[in-house]
Amino acid sequence: KRPAGAPDRALARPVTKIGVIGAGLMAAQMALLFAQRLEVPVLMTDLDQERVDKGIAYVQGQLAELQTKGRITQDTANKLSALITGSTDKAGMADAEFVIEAVFEEISVKKKVFAEVEEIVSPECVLASNTSSLSLTEMAADLKHPERVVGFHFFNPVAVMPLVEIIPGEKTDDASLATAFAVGKGLKKTTILVKDSASFIVNRILGRFMGEYSKIVDEGTPSAIADQGVAGLAPMPPFVLLGLVGPAIALHNSETLHRAFGDRFYVSPSLQKLVEAKGAAYDPAMQIQPDN
Ligand code: CAA
Repeated sequence: KRPAGAPDRALARPVTKIGVIGAGLMAAQMALLFAQRLEVPVLMTDLDQERVDKGIAYVQGQLAELQTKGRITQDTANKLSALITGSTDKAGMADAEFVIEAVFEEISVKKKVFAEVEEIVSPECVLASNTSSLSLTEMAADLKHPERVVGFHFFNPVAVMPLVEIIPGEKTDDASLATAFAVGKGLKKTTILVKDSASFIVNRILGRFMGEYSKIVDEGTPSAIADQGVAGLAPMPPFVLLGLVGPAIALHNSETLHRAFGDRFYVSPSLQKLVEAKGAAYDPAMQIQPDN
């Protein structure tokens, strides 16, 4: 069955190669899932070799774990490992039909990345963004082909969370949108069509939940007690979820929502202080290993 609002799937273009921009935790998880489910080559890039190596090492670690658990054979691990390559050079994405970015959550950075990719790929290549809060219309605004930009928002952990939010910008055309839905289907994810508004659906709802949690803690309740308060209601204690999402991302989400919807959304001063103290790019989610 076609997801509500999705364009005719006959319009979808084939995807035989995927580019992933960024080699952080979300990017590496995505690269692995693309290779596993779509069985296509995936090129993952980042600014320097150290980051690329870290992303590839994460993929290798996950493959080793899947093998230990008996989920995949040595042969499959080798095949998947060969499908996923890393580089500091995006030139190898020239023949990709779907490129997704998972770089720093800042509109100017995302726009710059898309402008660079546009010089390399074909005009039909879908430019997808894993943004959790930013406007796709704005992200596409200065491109030569804004009609191929689409939001494709995964949740952490990518292998386990069933949903992908698909967000068209103002100019996104049906073929690009249909391609995004086809990729989501190939990944065996539930895909929903979401309006291009601040933090979309899931993070807007999560923003209220985490905002009230932060407010309760800021008002003096220890986080361990607040966590116990919602045990059973949420799959993960909010404090642990904060670590999984990363304080910088959680703060950015609450600030985006506060700007868009005002005082309904709480921006926690203690979260602000924590992120400031560790630097803007601080993201402990990078240090959280699976199954910890
Ligand atoms: N990568 C791959 N697999 C993972 C994993 C990871 N990082 N973490 C857990 N898993 C797998 C485990 O291997 C296990 O698989 P099997 O059952 O097949 O062995 C399965 O998930 C369940 O894990 P566990 O039994 O260890 O633990 P659990 O039952 O507590 O489930 C969880 C773990 C699925 C992460 C669960 O705690 C959960 O759903 N948490 C909420 C996560 C969430 O809300 N994520 C959204 C964050 S918001 C976001 O990402 C959006 C954004 O833009 C900021």
